[in-house]
Amino acid sequence: GRVAVLMGGSSSEREVSLDSGRNVLEALQSKGVDAFAVDGIPALVDAIREGRVDRVFNILHGGVGGGEDGVLQGLLEALGVPFTGPGVLGSALSMDKIRTKQVWIASGLPTPQFRRIAKGADLRAAAKELGLPVFVKPSSEGSSVGVFRVLQESDLDPAIEFARGYPGDLLMEQMVQGEEYTVAILGEAALPSVRIVPAGEWYDYHAKYIADDTKYLCPGMEGEQEDEVRRVALAAFQAAGCTGWGRVDVMRDRVRGLQLIEVNTAPGMTSHSLVPKAARQIGIEFADLCWRVLESSFD
Ligand code: DAL
Ligand code: MG
Repeated sequence: GRVAVLMGGSSSEREVSLDSGRNVLEALQSKGVDAFAVDGIPALVDAIREGRVDRVFNILHGGVGGGEDGVLQGLLEALGVPFTGPGVLGSALSMDKIRTKQVWIASGLPTPQFRRIAKGADLRAAAKELGLPVFVKPSSEGSSVGVFRVLQESDLDPAIEFARGYPGDLLMEQMVQGEEYTVAILGEAALPSVRIVPAGEWYDYHAKYIADDTKYLCPGMEGEQEDEVRRVALAAFQAAGCTGWGRVDVMRDRVRGLQLIEVNTAPGMTSHSLVPKAARQIGIEFADLCWRVLESSFD
């Protein structure tokens, strides 16, 4: 059948999504799939109405205006169109970092201490309670958009300024002092972890998509530690109600051990992205990876 590769949209991650989407489209076509590009949800609705869509490969990153927050999933479920990635619940929950953390805590899974910063809340008071350093970030964005790193009190000023103009909840989270990992999930299995070693102080938007100086190690750990990070990541994915495929970001604190950060339910597939690196490590080339993700949407 015909596969719509859904990309672009109007979220803050539009450009990343177009990059991911073009790669996926080309890969699926190279596998002989009758795939075509669709930019954004309204265009997808048109294509479905015209009877041109049998299945959706969702690579539309981001929340509002994107395709990762459960809205698209509900629409497609209601219309009976199969799609890649988690369903309504897993998508909606994972887009909300604060509530994802609450579910992890209730499930006995490790995640850094945090405060929810509702509109108008006092960032200084919250920072005092948690203790510096902290990260302040929107509860529902991706690709490190709007993330503030607060090492000392004066670093709070730009975050406070941002909070004034930001409509949604912010998450203030204790900063993990340690290494950064990510674990791709494909179906019911965790792929080898990838350790991210940024050249600068942290892995921000620039390091993710523009610069080429970040080092990636895959697998990120060895032996039992590698088994553990995969086990915890898979448990975190499933606790968040996710199925299909995705990517779980996790850090290892020198004292507290593994600390879960977030789940990405339409993870990047750019040439810089991490799921393709993990797949390659176990001999799954990019086009095969795209095929497997598509397969995970088969009923
Ligand atoms: N949010 C970006 C696309 C990622 O997780 O890869
Ligand atoms: Mg993300």
